[in-house]
Amino acid sequence: MKICKTVKEVRNTLQNSRSKGQSIGFVPTMGALHQGHLKLVEASKENCDLTVTSIFVNPTQFNNADDLSNYPKTIDEDSEKLMTTGCDILFLPDVKEMYLSKPQLRIGFDGIAEQLEGSFRPGHFDGVGLVVSKLFNIIQPDQAFFGQKDLQQFFIVKALVDHLNYSIQLRMVPTVRESNGLAMSSRNMRLSEKERKEAGLIYKALGIGQKSLLNSSDIQAVKKEVKELFDTSERLGLEYFEIISTDDFKPTESLFNKEKIALCIAVNIGQVRLIDNLMLIS
Ligand code: PAJ
Repeated sequence: MKICKTVKEVRNTLQNSRSKGQSIGFVPTMGALHQGHLKLVEASKENCDLTVTSIFVNPTQFNNADDLSNYPKTIDEDSEKLMTTGCDILFLPDVKEMYLSKPQLRIGFDGIAEQLEGSFRPGHFDGVGLVVSKLFNIIQPDQAFFGQKDLQQFFIVKALVDHLNYSIQLRMVPTVRESNGLAMSSRNMRLSEKERKEAGLIYKALGIGQKSLLNSSDIQAVKKEVKELFDTSERLGLEYFEIISTDDFKPTESLFNKEKIALCIAVNIGQVRLIDNLMLIS
């Protein structure tokens, strides 16, 4: 696996492959890699000739300084894992390489970016949009792989691709989970063994909500039912549970377009904030 730390280096390396007609798959990450990330790398390998993974903890998408400084950094383990999975190129820029001096450009989204994660983490998706847009320009992949774990992020990136006319095929990869259903996340490292076990309630609650919704179609009753599951938990604090349409990520009033309905949740455990989701039809 080749490691490129500069834009120039990665561009030169890819130029070579492109001239040989190789298709390029891209997996953007912030590191602290786990099986969820590696699933994206595997999907890229299945679909493209060459796989590029980036690791860059993007400061512009953090609206909380502690969250940024606490973000786990495990670069040696990460490159080992990528190598074993068969990633071809690791793009590993530092903040100066990505942002020159200070970011002088912003990307703003209307609509879906104002809902859920967007309203609880102001500016978060603008930062994601900016860095993904820069990474797309640097790597110029044929396909890019994102996890369903961050469902709203996937649709933000889709808006970016549609509205900025990127000629990139986006692929959504299903969420990889621990044995108790907890969605794998770099943030899980910050949970104690006990917390990790209890966090299984998040997926359980989504499953209960999904089943009830399919049975009753009563959105308000299901929201109440899921919220009550967290009332009894001492450690888990429910931040939101919403039933939305992926068209706008607003709480939906009807289940008319069932394949677009998703159950989205955010939960705090101590200082750790976890998100998860389930499509109504999955
Ligand atoms: P990060 O949180 O490192 O996630 C990188 C990619 O891995 C995202 O597409 C995310 O949805 C996917 N992923 C994370 N956990 C997963 C799981 N359990 N199963 C399947 N896929 C999973 O998302 C980001 O980084 C950043 O916002 C980024 C897009 C890199 C921009 O900075």
